[in-house]
Amino acid sequence: MNVYDSERMIEALGGAGYEETSTPDDADMILLNTCHIREKAAEKVYSELGRFKHLKAQNPDLKIGVAGCVAQAEGQEIMRRQPLVDLVVGPQSYHRLPQMEAKTRDGQKAIDTDFPEEDKFDHLKDRPKARRAPAAFLTVQEGCDKFCAFCVVPYTRGAEVSRPGDKILTEARDLVERGVREITLLGQNVNAYHGVAPQGGEWSLSDLIWALNDVDGLERIRFTTSHPNDMTDDLIAAHGECEKLMPYLHLPVQSGSDKILKRMNRSHTAESYLKVIERIRAARPDILISGDFIVGFPEETDQDFEDTMELIRQVNYGQAFSFKYSTRPGTPAAERDQLPEDLKSERLYRLQALIAEQQQAIQDSMVGRDVSVLIEKAGRFEGQMVGKSEYLHAVHVLDQTIPVGEIVKVRITESNRNSLTGILAN
Ligand code: 5AD
Ligand code: SF4
Repeated sequence: MNVYDSERMIEALGGAGYEETSTPDDADMILLNTCHIREKAAEKVYSELGRFKHLKAQNPDLKIGVAGCVAQAEGQEIMRRQPLVDLVVGPQSYHRLPQMEAKTRDGQKAIDTDFPEEDKFDHLKDRPKARRAPAAFLTVQEGCDKFCAFCVVPYTRGAEVSRPGDKILTEARDLVERGVREITLLGQNVNAYHGVAPQGGEWSLSDLIWALNDVDGLERIRFTTSHPNDMTDDLIAAHGECEKLMPYLHLPVQSGSDKILKRMNRSHTAESYLKVIERIRAARPDILISGDFIVGFPEETDQDFEDTMELIRQVNYGQAFSFKYSTRPGTPAAERDQLPEDLKSERLYRLQALIAEQQQAIQDSMVGRDVSVLIEKAGRFEGQMVGKSEYLHAVHVLDQTIPVGEIVKVRITESNRNSLTGILAN
């Protein structure tokens, strides 16, 4: 979502005469878009800011801003800790960047971490009609009301809000006009989407996906991230029936222990999660399942961790993101007794080894198969183009004549460490 938001910020500042540069050395303004999900991500902001000190010394007119969830959570502190920061903008206020920028030109500091009533997306209509890469993100839902005990999202991104269906369709059509063939619908809780339908009433995520399925020129639809409790029958069925919906599902479980899931306030069990996986595989047998895991949550015993490993064995993941539990200020679990760091590291190491094994086996099983690949760019080596398969595997195609944006059938000949290689089928 920060990638999507950064694009919107560039557009918002486009009205004030700014355009993107490829290096900070050329910049009149540097905006750091930040993530607060784990401590490491948040701490990185301060070291990154330090690196801009010499640029500001060379160019006193350079404006430095911090955006995103660290800005939201620690705005005042950032201004205090790092005096070279001119501007702090939270994730719900970035449409106000032009006014904030003007304020900094007058030598003032600007800070906005409101949750305004107005729709920030409405202010971004007059975007330049630049050509786009073939795969794009589109935010449809933001925020979260689930309050998992470890998570800052409900505090930094705010309450769950769904964008109206017609606005999303308009944005999707605009993206397609500019060359986009694949759209990933974004939301912290995307499958809880319930936006106003164009004809009145309400759209669920599957309604929205079906409407996008009818957009000419759009070829692929994905969505992320989902909560197991919001995997409704209609959404599961769409995976079997909707031709443009790709066979890939990112469905975080966090832990395989019911005790820990309860302490995490996840409101699902290991079994209910496995049931969802079973149903989705019944609807779409070849679907690739991806997940998120947290190890070393307070009170996690060896047995709890083994339960997580067992769940992983049962699911067989094609991809996963895993993290050591990181205390976040203001969240309930941060107040609890914490496990030692080396125990967390040891568990993470074992979990990642198991996932890597599964991931590699699933990727290897693609050899000899024909997959469809959306070509995204030229490969690193001459004579290759690179794209993504329907399962989101990176695929190097041994052919340099295929235009970017084309979807081609590729016979997979080789499975490497993090990608596949193939040749055009027939
Ligand atoms: N510590 C570690 N991982 C976390 N995540 C969210 N909050 C924390 C935390 N405090 C992970 C979860 C979530 C992903 C986006 O980040 O696994 O699904
Ligand atoms: Fe955070 Fe996801 Fe839980 Fe919401 S559902 S609180 S975004 S982990």
